[in-house]
Amino acid sequence: MTSFEPIGSKDLLRMSDLAQHEVHGILATAANFKRNPAQLTGALAGKSICMLFEKPSLRTRMSFEVGAFRMGGQAIYLDHKDSPIGKRETISDYGKNIERWCHAIVARVHSHATVAGLATATHIPVINTLCDMHHPCQALADLQTLLERGFHFNHSRLAWVGDGNNVCHSLIEAASILGFGITVVTPKGFEPDATIVSQSVARSMRSGARIEITNDIGAIQGAFAVYTDAWTSMGQTDSAAKTSAFEPYRVDRELMAIAGPKALFMHCLPAHRGEEVTDEVIDSTNSVVFDQAENRMHAQNALLCHLLSPQAVASKGSATNPAHFNTRTQETTRA
Ligand code: CP
Ligand code: NVA
Repeated sequence: MTSFEPIGSKDLLRMSDLAQHEVHGILATAANFKRNPAQLTGALAGKSICMLFEKPSLRTRMSFEVGAFRMGGQAIYLDHKDSPIGKRETISDYGKNIERWCHAIVARVHSHATVAGLATATHIPVINTLCDMHHPCQALADLQTLLERGFHFNHSRLAWVGDGNNVCHSLIEAASILGFGITVVTPKGFEPDATIVSQSVARSMRSGARIEITNDIGAIQGAFAVYTDAWTSMGQTDSAAKTSAFEPYRVDRELMAIAGPKALFMHCLPAHRGEEVTDEVIDSTNSVVFDQAENRMHAQNALLCHLLSPQAVASKGSATNPAHFNTRTQETTRA
């Protein structure tokens, strides 16, 4: 069985939980899994992943479920769209139950505080699969997609156009860790979170990343790829005023021409065709949106293997086997 370099953090709540060499390691494993699917066999044998969702999903749910199946593990879906976590029992009690049966928690939640609470309460890895502030699994898949197309962390630049949202935050953090350039272009008032930007700019002093935040669409000129997302994320309220502010930022053929003829088009999906992107752009040969969707599975399979590597578990005292708890309980009883 292949061994996977352990990750220092118990959890992946945001991209900045990862060091540069850890991102490189996950991406190398992901590329290897994609090239050699036979390497997946048994990688998650005997392991159960709890997947809880407070919001809808196609890609995240499917990619984790199919990925766990291919690695010989089990993914259990818990639907919380009608009953938020923390309502029936505390978030901490919820987590302390789940860790008695499962080896990791995958959570899509409204508030970052919920995944942070689960991470604090449990010994097992907690993976954030989208909250109000971050979407690190999406960023890992996006990095894999960019590398496949010849992106260089040392000298390429990604352009974000639209809302300065959760996906945007994870890509800014990714740039700051890896050292690539990112130009974020938003309407006035929809810039990314100021704290995340300043932390990322500080991190860039080490990595050499160039992070630019602007309202000027002209700044995307020469970017390797143009990335957009929904103008209104899940859980946000839409308004006519918001829509009119975003209209000039729709990614259409004219906007892509500013980036240049070779610029790729990226979107985490789901896309709202005719709003943030036109059909001709998302359906163009420069569009890599379905590669991004496929790579969710490869990147997450790799992430699970690194987080659940025996060395990672040993060093953090995580419970990858419920027997860990049985043993502890027996010792407590005897004492
Ligand atoms: N990109 C993404 O997270 O898709 P889903 O919302 O369908 O999971
Ligand atoms: N920003 C979007 C991403 C969906 C995958 C949202 O939060 O709804």
